[in-house]
Amino acid sequence: MNLPAKKTASKSYQQRLKAVIPGGAHTYSRGSDQFPANAPEILSSGSGVYVKDAEGNEFLDFGMALRSVAIGYAESSVNNAAIQQVMAGNNLTRASLIELEAAERLTGMIASAEMVKFTKNGSTAVSAAVKLARAYTGRKLVLRCSDHPFFSFDDWFIGSTVINRGIPEEISGLTITFPYNDAQALQSILAEHGSGIACLVMEAATTEEPVASIFEQGKSYLNDVELLCKKYGIVFILDEMITGFRWHQYGAQALYNIQPDLTTFGKAMANGFSVAAVAGKRDIMDLGSIDEAGQERVFLLSTTHGAEMSGLGAFVATMDFYDNHDVIGHMWEFGKKLKLLINRKALEHGLKDNLIASGFDCSPGVTLKDHDGKVSMLLRTLFMQEMLKSQVMMPWVSIAYHHGEKELKHVERALDQSLTIIRKALDDGIGQYLIGEPVKPVFRQYN
Ligand SMILES: Cc1ncc(COP(=O)(O)O)c(C=O)c1O
Repeated sequence: MNLPAKKTASKSYQQRLKAVIPGGAHTYSRGSDQFPANAPEILSSGSGVYVKDAEGNEFLDFGMALRSVAIGYAESSVNNAAIQQVMAGNNLTRASLIELEAAERLTGMIASAEMVKFTKNGSTAVSAAVKLARAYTGRKLVLRCSDHPFFSFDDWFIGSTVINRGIPEEISGLTITFPYNDAQALQSILAEHGSGIACLVMEAATTEEPVASIFEQGKSYLNDVELLCKKYGIVFILDEMITGFRWHQYGAQALYNIQPDLTTFGKAMANGFSVAAVAGKRDIMDLGSIDEAGQERVFLLSTTHGAEMSGLGAFVATMDFYDNHDVIGHMWEFGKKLKLLINRKALEHGLKDNLIASGFDCSPGVTLKDHDGKVSMLLRTLFMQEMLKSQVMMPWVSIAYHHGEKELKHVERALDQSLTIIRKALDDGIGQYLIGEPVKPVFRQYN
């Protein structure tokens, strides 16, 4: 059959992407509403910490595939391990040797993980943890942290955000929220709803350090959360999608000395390959097992491609790389230098109140504020736009092992150029310096 010739040549890549993919990409964070008008419309390749667009223009990247690439793009030892598994068949009819090796490697590393199930994306892992918690406790309610932006595209989470279209109220109503770093507020919520809550879902940290415990000296808010979950029989689910393999090789839980019941991992664990996991205590994870005669079954993660061998080979090779190179130490050190550089340049350009690098050294945040001290999407767009003119793509800051001194110098040059324009724009009006539309938050109800 002859397929009709499609007229595509006259259309931009964005038009073509949006014509065939809702949102034009496979995460909303990659959408055109998240980038300034001069951002590359489409990318062709990545190597180290650089990406190329379709025309061959190269950009120093700080997006790093939504934080999933922690060493660098196309790292040869990781790629070779994946290719070896591709050549060995990539997905076989029964469990594979690499599946066993990967599971033993993860459970050997993470103190709270006695069992693990791999899957292809983070949302699935967190939703599986929620399902396990409901099955384990026989309760319905989910308590999730309101200060952490994203846990899953599934109904239990999205139903509790402003983008809840398509999700029945009966589902949305089962998820309630709590604020970060406020153990007293958590206590009050638990006093009211504790006996109905199946699980508490949170990240260990995003931008702020956990504050001191209200119960015990030398302990932190996270210890309080663990304690309160135990007191009310609630399954403590720690989402380490971002903190895992970044705050500490053995998870932020190792750094903060906590023992969640279930943990979810993804993103950086396989240097960009599609691997995520739910891991945790045996008595909960075991609900998904098939051995105990008479036990009522829980249909835990079951995916055709869940244990695809290339990804698991990449995970093991990524962990080998971490064992042989101080990836974590580098992230903390580089991020500290980057924060200092951004704040120093802001000061030099008279912008210390407008451009602020803050947060954890291993995961810095860059905030743009207008004259009134309000966070400004317009200024943020202008910052990204001007950095792109110097071939730096910085939609957020995700540090990888291959960000080094050369890249810091590149950022310094880009900042000098960009901040000169930002200074002028603040005086003359930001709008006249913007090429296109300002970026918008992902979590908004209307387009
Ligand atoms: C903390 C956190 N949890 C879960 C997810 C979902 O992961 P995925 O996009 O792989 O489904 C994300 C993704 O951004 C995340 O940041």
